[in-house]
Amino acid sequence: MVDVGDMMGSLDPSMVVVTACDGRERDGCLVGFSTQCSIDPARYLVCLSKANRTYELARSSSCLVVHVLRDDPRDRALAEHFGGRTEHDHADKLADVDWRPGPDGAPVLADCDWFAGRVIACHDLGDHVGFVLDVSDADGDGVDEPPLRFRAVQHVDAGNPA
Ligand SMILES: Cc1cc2nc3c(=O)[nH]c(=O)nc-3n(C[C@H](O)[C@H](O)[C@H](O)COP(=O)(O)O)c2cc1C
Repeated sequence: MVDVGDMMGSLDPSMVVVTACDGRERDGCLVGFSTQCSIDPARYLVCLSKANRTYELARSSSCLVVHVLRDDPRDRALAEHFGGRTEHDHADKLADVDWRPGPDGAPVLADCDWFAGRVIACHDLGDHVGFVLDVSDADGDGVDEPPLRFRAVQHVDAGNPA
């Protein structure tokens, strides 16, 4: 039988960086498991690994910000930065990038396309938890640019094991 992971990887999802703030701390991580899940109302599902520091903060966050990465050198570097380092190692990922506090304090990365939404539901999915966002805010001018896809960054060693 074909490897199931290879089969799922062949779907080649678009990559995003998800950021969270629990009122005290902030973090963000690279995410491949995400999708729009409702048109009207506009809702989006983000799946965060229970191993990630970003997940721990998201559990106490009212809002998450989703940054849509584009297939260009700058966003590839962002993917490596947020996917390959973990706050569990005190990496302080946000110290090395430009950002500003966005909705409910969640970081908005500079010069990125982004949208944000209130967390309206959480579902235990296995080793990941699904956060359903009621999307209410968005900005960016890159919507005609191709997204950065999984296959372009699958070589990155994730900061935490899956
Ligand atoms: C190609 C790739 C895809 C990833 N997809 C996800 C994902 O869908 N959800 C997730 O929570 N982490 C995903 N990760 C892992 C996190 O981005 C990574 O472990 C990060 O270092 C976690 O940082 P944190 O502990 O500071 O939150 C992915 C990593 C890579 C390299």
